[in-house]
Amino acid sequence: MKAILSNVNLMDLKDDLAQEFYSHIDDLMSHPLVLKMDDYSQHLNTSRLQHSLNVAYYSFLFARKLNLNVRDAVRGALLHDLFLYEWRTEQPVEGNHVLVHPIQALQNAHKVTDVTYVMEDVIASHMWPVGNVKPKTSEGWLIQMVDKMCAVMEIGVQSTKKIERMNFAPILLGLLFYIN
Ligand SMILES: [Fe+2]
Ligand SMILES: [Fe+2]
Repeated sequence: MKAILSNVNLMDLKDDLAQEFYSHIDDLMSHPLVLKMDDYSQHLNTSRLQHSLNVAYYSFLFARKLNLNVRDAVRGALLHDLFLYEWRTEQPVEGNHVLVHPIQALQNAHKVTDVTYVMEDVIASHMWPVGNVKPKTSEGWLIQMVDKMCAVMEIGVQSTKKIERMNFAPILLGLLFYIN
């Protein structure tokens, strides 16, 4: 179990960083609703569970550096896309996917765990500025950025080889190296 572009094995019992990360989500990672995200594609061949793990891990690294609420940031990040349908072909809830899936994710998050104020903000506002819910917390601002960063990595890595030709690749990889 690894986050995209990371060499850290998140299940490595000897890796202190991995253990610290996993301690925040161990209960969530055995919950059937969370594991069900593995059945759905998020970006190309990246499952929704892998995407959520990517966002959770990079949010963890940034939140530590920035002295934010690491636990709520990580848990909110893992649950930010907890909607259980194939959004390209199904829309069980009326409305624009961009606007309704954070609401679905928040409702499902309440079925999985106690949702704190910070976690609620993280989940509800992660589509900002495309969505209409503006983050109210520093963790919310962080995760809406990390979510987009991970989407770019997931699509970029799979689309290519071409990533080396993209102008943002050196900046992104430099940033990842710094926070690792
Ligand atoms: Fe989302
Ligand atoms: Fe996402």
